[in-house]
Amino acid sequence: MKTDCWDEGAKVLSISPVGAEYWTLRLQAPQIAGRARPGQFVHLRVPGLETSALRRPFSIYGAEGGELRILFKVVGRGSGALSRVREGDTVPVLGPLGNGFPKPAKGTVPVCVAGGYGVAPLSFLAARAGGRGITLIGGRTAADILAAEDFGPIGWTVKIATQDGSRGTEGLVTVPLEETLRQLREEGKKAEIFACGPTGMLRAVGAMAEAEGCRAWLSLDERMVCGVGACLGCVQKIRRKDGSEYLARVCKDGPVFECRTIVW
Ligand SMILES: Cc1cc2nc3c(=O)[nH]c(=O)nc-3n(C[C@H](O)[C@H](O)[C@H](O)COP(=O)(O)OP(=O)(O)OC[C@H]3O[C@@H](n4cnc5c(N)ncnc54)[C@H](O)[C@@H]3O)c2cc1C
Ligand code: FES
Repeated sequence: MKTDCWDEGAKVLSISPVGAEYWTLRLQAPQIAGRARPGQFVHLRVPGLETSALRRPFSIYGAEGGELRILFKVVGRGSGALSRVREGDTVPVLGPLGNGFPKPAKGTVPVCVAGGYGVAPLSFLAARAGGRGITLIGGRTAADILAAEDFGPIGWTVKIATQDGSRGTEGLVTVPLEETLRQLREEGKKAEIFACGPTGMLRAVGAMAEAEGCRAWLSLDERMVCGVGACLGCVQKIRRKDGSEYLARVCKDGPVFECRTIVW
């Protein structure tokens, strides 16, 4: 029988803080890492929570040599307990889950747009895509700008925006996005957008892509229960090509959808 996801007891290789609120976790998970694609996610059973607690979904930040990396923010009980795992602990990991991003189309310039920890799957995408693209990273303050250093060594341009102006341009990430789309248009190049971040950012990015006439692949951040398409706890209204609408499961049919298909 074809298996496309695994439930592995992954060994913690390391856990490191990134500033005050964020952490990078490296796990030994050869089955999942060997098949992971950018934009897919894993569903973790967090040690330290009661066994009846729900798993928590996290994007795959990187997968190479049997290792899986995630980059996460402590926002509550589950992510707080995850930040307290130690080297050698075992974390049950289900994955890789979801559809992931498509490969950037030939003849386009990939433009990644990230908000906060949304940079994680986009760093993975850039690493796998090769070639040269542009990454725009936004956050509230400089402390929310993560993984910017991942892109330069692989030849990508990085532009940063913070709402308080403490790093990069002052304002939302849509400010450098508008400028980037205009520059590419003037150079006769076509952008293809890949975005992950808060819903407000995704909606704004989708609207700009529609106005520009380019495609935008948005990774939706929806609360999840089962993570595998069984409970219908994560549905999003999606428009088919014929104009009819249906409720897609973000965990199974997504989390990535082309912006024109999303009925906000
Ligand atoms: C496909 C997918 C990929 C994700 N990737 C990452 C990632 O790479 N790094 C990362 O840090 N987080 C990621 N998240 C969000 C992460 O799953 C939640 O932050 C985590 O489950 C919160 O668990 P908790 O027990 O700490 O928080 P809870 O105690 O459950 O909640 C604390 C606060 O976080 C909010 N919250 C909970 N879940 C989400 C969610 N899915 N989106 C937005 N807010 C939420 C709650 O509304 C509440 O305000 C992803 C979510 C999805 C659906
Ligand atoms: S979380 Fe259960 S169907 Fe998506």
